[in-house]
Amino acid sequence: MESPYYLTTPIYYANDVPHIGHAYTTIAADAIARYQRLNGRDVFLLTGTDEHGVNIERVAASQGVSAREHVDRIARQFDALWSRLDISYDRFIRTTESAHHRAVLALWQRLQASGDLYRATYAGAYCARCEAYYQPDELDRGLCPVHALACDTVAEQNWFFRLSRYQDALERLVRDTDFVRPTSRRNEVLAVIRDGLRDFSVSRRQVRWGVPVPEGTDEVIYVWVDALANYLTGVGYPDDSATFERYWPADLHLVGKEIIRFHCLYWPALLLSAGLPLPRQVFAHGWLTKDGKKISKTTGNTIDPSALAAEFGSDAVRYYLLRATPFGQDGDYTRAGFLRLYNAELANAFGNLVQRATVLAHRHAGALSAEGAACGPELELCAEAEKLDSRVTAAFETLALHEAVAAVGEFVTAANRYLQVTAPWQLAGTGDARRLGVVLRHTLQAARLAARWYAPIIPRAAAEASRRLGVTRVEVGPPLFPRYSC
Ligand code: MSP
Repeated sequence: MESPYYLTTPIYYANDVPHIGHAYTTIAADAIARYQRLNGRDVFLLTGTDEHGVNIERVAASQGVSAREHVDRIARQFDALWSRLDISYDRFIRTTESAHHRAVLALWQRLQASGDLYRATYAGAYCARCEAYYQPDELDRGLCPVHALACDTVAEQNWFFRLSRYQDALERLVRDTDFVRPTSRRNEVLAVIRDGLRDFSVSRRQVRWGVPVPEGTDEVIYVWVDALANYLTGVGYPDDSATFERYWPADLHLVGKEIIRFHCLYWPALLLSAGLPLPRQVFAHGWLTKDGKKISKTTGNTIDPSALAAEFGSDAVRYYLLRATPFGQDGDYTRAGFLRLYNAELANAFGNLVQRATVLAHRHAGALSAEGAACGPELELCAEAEKLDSRVTAAFETLALHEAVAAVGEFVTAANRYLQVTAPWQLAGTGDARRLGVVLRHTLQAARLAARWYAPIIPRAAAEASRRLGVTRVEVGPPLFPRYSC
């Protein structure tokens, strides 16, 4: 059986409807998953919703509905968006599932067994939006550093987790391995570790909407411990040990850069304490911004990815998000930038190549089987094709997703140039069927290759292109990407 590849997205808060920032991570994860499947791996892609916590409790109350009704509605909207964007997930997990409760409790019991949980008093700031505790020096002029909102003041006796015990182990993990990527984020995490890690509270007394602690102290388990455990539940922990053993540890947790503390410190420490293997890598990507500000509900600058997909198609949204910004860095969304990329690279480049290849092959079907020898332009195109395979592979393996897209784009440009140079439309007039056959076959081959490597990025158009460029029968269809005026 093929070797497994397990990757995850964060589970998104079910407090509000999804926006393009959520779509960004999920589309990136889906592209990686599709690439790995193309490679023959047995991929498991997990996504889902984070449905507990004080913020969700509050939002539901403010809308006059129960927390349960609220999260059901939001989870449906996330799922509908993923289907709209052609996300090929293997499981959509919800933290309100009973299977997940069992996983959280099993993890909790392991933490207790390790002696890493103890009672203490937490007094300080808590941001309900981040569901995170903040030290005074972490606040930005007294406000949450992520949301610029006032924090709650919490003072309660809780269960604490002995994070400090894992200081050295975490430093070694982050410093000596590829656990955190890219390097800039790794350095950020190292700096936090070197500042000294403090134990943190892992239960909340004033929250009802969560997994109750088994000790009967009238508290629920801290929502981040609950949420992180989804990565275990997703592959069968603790009930289905065959699935768990097959897929765990995860190969990749893909996350946004604002949640590295949880994924790069809390999560490995919890797993070390529980005696479970550590995931191989956490990759933190940057933010999608608008006018330089993080796109978020709190800022009020969200873009609806469903509307964008309804207007331009899911592939156009996927392409823009993966192409416009080097993966790992922040990128500013503009509609003009979206349209520019769409027209230049999808409509005029790839769409045009497929159109020309299919129309020419259809029109001159008789020449397709004419024998002839490859010469200069063909050798050049074949050299480009060879480079393409290794370039795309290297880019995907290092998660340089933008570079993978760019590599295919450059090959498409080379293929269109080849058509300009060889001008098969003129060859047809000269009656040189042999030369025409050579050019048509190479053009079809190049278009097929581009479609193959575009499949993880724009799966819908790539599948349609491959179908039209069929080896036994070529078919002409409407433009894959109709042009839009800017
Ligand atoms: N529920 C937690 C995650 C728990 S994982 C065990 C959470 N949820 S969230 O709804 O706030 O989603 C966070 C993720 O959405 C980010 O980590 C990031 O992947 C994605 N994004 C949300 N807004 C984003 C941008 N503006 N830009 C890019 N990604 C963004 O945190």
